[in-house]
Amino acid sequence: MVILEARNISRTYTIGERETQVLKDISLTINAGEFVVIAGSSGSGKSTLLSILSGLDQPTSGRIFLSGQDITDLNEDQLAEVRNQTTGFVFQAFHLIPSLNALENVTFPAELSHDPQAYKKAETLLKRVGLWERKTHFPSQLSGGEKQRVALCRALINSPPLVFADEPTGNLDSKNSSEIVRLLLEMQHEWNTTLVMATHSLEIAERAERMISLRDGRIEPDYSQRT
Ligand SMILES: Nc1ncnc2c1ncn2[C@@H]1O[C@H](COP(=O)(O)OP(=O)(O)OP(=O)(O)O)[C@@H](O)[C@H]1O
Ligand SMILES: [Mg+2]
Repeated sequence: MVILEARNISRTYTIGERETQVLKDISLTINAGEFVVIAGSSGSGKSTLLSILSGLDQPTSGRIFLSGQDITDLNEDQLAEVRNQTTGFVFQAFHLIPSLNALENVTFPAELSHDPQAYKKAETLLKRVGLWERKTHFPSQLSGGEKQRVALCRALINSPPLVFADEPTGNLDSKNSSEIVRLLLEMQHEWNTTLVMATHSLEIAERAERMISLRDGRIEPDYSQRT
């Protein structure tokens, strides 16, 4: 079953008089439960593509379908609601809210949707990643690996069918990277979550079911499927 479809996506950035086309006519489908890696050199458009696929940014042209629903023309409020209910996002730089402690960061998306189970779910998740004892710590009091585990819990609290991760291990050492990847893959298997991850790591890419490589704003032909 297709959970996400991009149809003829282009994205142009305009700075002053200059226009740069970062994504050029990208079409792809992602199946429910799949682990897909987005690869490509720095500047190839991975983050731009992830933002568009997850509804954080809008394409210049083309359409995005989420579980069959065309989300391209939704207004900002509608898009925020779809994002909150359907997607989780993990960033390279964690993006935790500095004034909220670990527990409050995790419950935040669940409180936006008035989930009475927010606390209970956060407790289960934080225990799972070994951080329940640190629930009252603020981001500045946590290590990088700990911050990313909190960010992971926050991404998962609304049980989204789709999780996006943009270089989630980019700021972590190898031990913490393995731990984050292990947790992401556990969740993908356990809850049949769809995982779309941009990464430079070949080691992680090897574990994906599919790799989409970007080059000059286009998807590279998949030679593995031509043999
Ligand atoms: N807000 C923006 N305004 C103008 N240009 C942008 C903007 N965001 C990205 N770009 C440009 O778009 C191109 C793709 O950027 P993007 O961040 O998607 O690449 P990336 O593949 O994620 O790179 P990296 O591996 O370094 O994270 C780059 O040339 C970048 O300079
Ligand atoms: Mg990037």
